[in-house]
Amino acid sequence: MSENQESKLYEPSAAAREGAHVSGMAAYQRLVDEAEADHAAYWARLAREFITWKQPFTQALDDANAPFFKWFQDGTLNASYNCLDRHIEAGKGDKTALIFEADGGEVTRTSYKELLARTCRIANGLKSLGVKKGDRVVIYISMSVDGVAAMQACARIGATHSVVFGGFSAQSLRDRIEDTGAVAVITADQQVRGGKHLPLKAIVDEALALGGCDSVKNVLVVRRTGAELPMTAGRDLWMHELTAQQADACEPEWVEAEHPLFLLYTSGSTGKPKGVQHSTGGYLLHAALTTKWTFDLKDDDIFWCTADIGWVTGHSYITYGPLALGGTEVVFEGVPTYPDAGRFWKMIQDHKVTIFYTAPTAIRSLIKAAEGNEAVHPRRYDLSSLRILGSVGEPINPAAWEWYHANIGGGRCPIVDTFWQTETGGHMITPLPGATPLVPGSCTLPFPGITAAIVDETGNDVPNGQGGILVVKKPWPSMIRTIWGDPERFKKSYYPPELKGYYLAGDGAIRDAHTGYFTITGRIDDVLNVSGHRMGTMEIESALVSCTELVAEAAVVGRPDDTTGEAICAFVVLKRPRPTGEEAKKIAAELRNWVGREIGPIAKPKDIRFGDNLPKTRSGKIMRRLLRSIAKGEAITQDTSTLENPAILDQLSETN
Ligand code: PRX
Repeated sequence: MSENQESKLYEPSAAAREGAHVSGMAAYQRLVDEAEADHAAYWARLAREFITWKQPFTQALDDANAPFFKWFQDGTLNASYNCLDRHIEAGKGDKTALIFEADGGEVTRTSYKELLARTCRIANGLKSLGVKKGDRVVIYISMSVDGVAAMQACARIGATHSVVFGGFSAQSLRDRIEDTGAVAVITADQQVRGGKHLPLKAIVDEALALGGCDSVKNVLVVRRTGAELPMTAGRDLWMHELTAQQADACEPEWVEAEHPLFLLYTSGSTGKPKGVQHSTGGYLLHAALTTKWTFDLKDDDIFWCTADIGWVTGHSYITYGPLALGGTEVVFEGVPTYPDAGRFWKMIQDHKVTIFYTAPTAIRSLIKAAEGNEAVHPRRYDLSSLRILGSVGEPINPAAWEWYHANIGGGRCPIVDTFWQTETGGHMITPLPGATPLVPGSCTLPFPGITAAIVDETGNDVPNGQGGILVVKKPWPSMIRTIWGDPERFKKSYYPPELKGYYLAGDGAIRDAHTGYFTITGRIDDVLNVSGHRMGTMEIESALVSCTELVAEAAVVGRPDDTTGEAICAFVVLKRPRPTGEEAKKIAAELRNWVGREIGPIAKPKDIRFGDNLPKTRSGKIMRRLLRSIAKGEAITQDTSTLENPAILDQLSETN
């Protein structure tokens, strides 16, 4: 690894360095030193610089009740004021905030003034229904101006939003609505993706009918396709009807810095997804700061983050970061392969995108598409507007990095491989494009002020060149505050006592012996990363065994996949004799659909194998490491002497 890294160092070009917000490694080091000298004072300086406070804070960090840290506690602010009004007050009201491109290619531009008006109308609409500070609002919508405005509207009135990705099933949506105790759900009649109309409101209806959602008083429906929909009187309202009567100004609700801006559910190593709670002040600071330094965002940039607002990347780098800086960004409704796999490249060309941020899975699938079809090869498009590329969500393999660098970035654009998590709110380990020499496959160095380190099981530092557990030693402003409704789980998951009070990321990592650069080696818990989406193996197992008619037992593991990074592989014992041939295929398809209904299509296992049993120790513990080897198609080299039923391994190795 170290040899490879040394031979592949990409220094930032003079063009990338010149005028960059953080220009050169000496500037990076000065920031690191400043933070090291006085951690709280460093963050306080930035919080004053990046955020407009209604009431300034007097204390940056309160660690009296660690690990429940508080930042900028006695300050008050409003996130939507910071993202919208203050730019208008500075004379930028007519600047384009959002360039929205619909699935079918229609483009709408929304200025800061217009986005504020839209936000205020929705905010007033919510207020007219009695939604107030501290209430939760679930947003189940696809990429749209109204999706962004709905999030901003919640922030404006102090309601805590919880966006649920439009690909989650009714059951998953129900679970999240129940856990948040939301008073309202904002959705659309349908979503449009890849030329298809897919239901949204119908899934909300189904979720609410599943029960346990009595807290929901209203469902607000944005009209996207005009589909005929049943509306429940007294509960469901069309957004356009509600907002038509509303004023387009709404006084922001000034909230304390620690006020929960949003909850976002993510998978952990146990069955139930966790509601990650983020604050207003600390979160917004890091979203804005990282957008500025990691992407070197300038006033005339056209920024495009291809994530969905249903994930944290869409929160920090669509709804909050770029808008907090008064930037112009592209918001895309569709998918990268429709009408063809040249869509991203065409959009970069059409909108003259300067900063492009996407996931390795998308890059890998577009490489395959380009190799198979010259018409969608990026060389057919003018990508000369680009100056910075980004990668997020999963490790980017050096081959995909090199292709991205050469074919999309024309060899001149730095790639920022940003490591972070739903829980961290923003970038943690990442290059800064005008400073950090790059190494393909490495997320390089911690963002200034982030005390990332690699330790052993007892929290002691391991030397460079030796792998270990990734931790963050000191608290930082945008960190997760708690798991909604479950502070004990928060402590257990992220601050295990043996780690000396360090934040446990859940990933393994290694630092290069020469450069000190970080490389993420993957999750150390039972969490998979499929196409950059986090999935808990236990969650999928629970979904499978909830098919009580068919399934007796299930174990889920990941295996490497060329395109999606990891693929889900399920080993299933049925309540009937082990099926083979066509029957096995049929039942596997049934189970896949079952998981799709229980969680969402993203959780459907790629492989399902049937066995008479699972490999277990004599005490009945499933030996997952053996299943991982089988899933990979590897020969079993591990010790199997503790196995109760070794013959089962051959049976499970047979593919259907
Ligand atoms: O395993 C790491 C991986 O994605 C996990 C976080 O997933 P999620 O909370 O869904 O947030 C994704 C968007 C930030 C991490 O624990 N991960 C994220 N970024 C990278 C990564 N792995 C390697 N390199 C990255 N750049």
